[in-house]
Amino acid sequence: MSQVFRSDDWQRYRMDWHHPHRQLEPPAKEIAIVDDALAVLRQAGLPDVPYDREKMLAHRAAVAELFEIPWTAITPRMERLLYAINAAARPAHMIAAGVFCGFTFISNAGAAVGPGACYAAGQLIGIEIKPEEAQRAERNVRRIDPTGVARVVAADAVEFAGRFRDPIHLLYLDADGAGGKGKGIYLDILQAAYDRIPPGGVVLAHNSVNGGNRIQPYLDFVRDEHHFGASVNAVLDAEGLEVSMR
Ligand SMILES: C[S@@+](CC[C@H](N)C(=O)[O-])C[C@H]1O[C@@H](n2cnc3c(N)ncnc32)[C@H](O)[C@@H]1O
Repeated sequence: MSQVFRSDDWQRYRMDWHHPHRQLEPPAKEIAIVDDALAVLRQAGLPDVPYDREKMLAHRAAVAELFEIPWTAITPRMERLLYAINAAARPAHMIAAGVFCGFTFISNAGAAVGPGACYAAGQLIGIEIKPEEAQRAERNVRRIDPTGVARVVAADAVEFAGRFRDPIHLLYLDADGAGGKGKGIYLDILQAAYDRIPPGGVVLAHNSVNGGNRIQPYLDFVRDEHHFGASVNAVLDAEGLEVSMR
């Protein structure tokens, strides 16, 4: 079952990639739009577990204070949605592919580590192919999570996902493949991980709206009911997030 959630203003809602912490709208509006998206996701099978808004703000404040972020396209709405999905799905094992400076990764992992933690996870692993970016991401994450439950590894996400032997309860995709591959790499990573995603497992793909032609085979795959029980395109900004549930 393939569905779409679209906020009325997704095309007008814009961020400055170099000032990711700048408030773009009244908090109540951000909360309401993310709540509307979550309602559609719950109908599609996401566990009906509300997230703690105060913890989400504590998480956001810690990231703003402690992370070095050269740029990001993760909007405040998307940051909140990622946190809320993880707070509901509570993945013991989460893999995030293509984490750049770590902001996308911690938007997911922050539901289990740091001041926004609302459950205990096992392994939360961010994968970044560029060693210097992986080092910066790892430095950022260590400032929030001294435990090491959340960590960043310099590796190719396709290879890493293929080698990872444990169940993958949540897979987050944001890699931009080299050599013209672009977001076409999402399907390679998903297929490398697919047999370890258990029933109830969640796969998130950033850029469901602006991923271009190369993301289409991935979207066709996750929207096929033989592969996922439900898939929702959450369009609350100009980037979008495809949320697929096994
Ligand atoms: C464009 S960034 C994602 C940024 C994120 N959307 C944001 O707005 O903050 C994509 C990252 O994927 C990484 N990447 C590309 N191919 C990869 C692969 N095969 N495995 C892991 N990371 C990869 C790139 O080095 C890059 O840092």
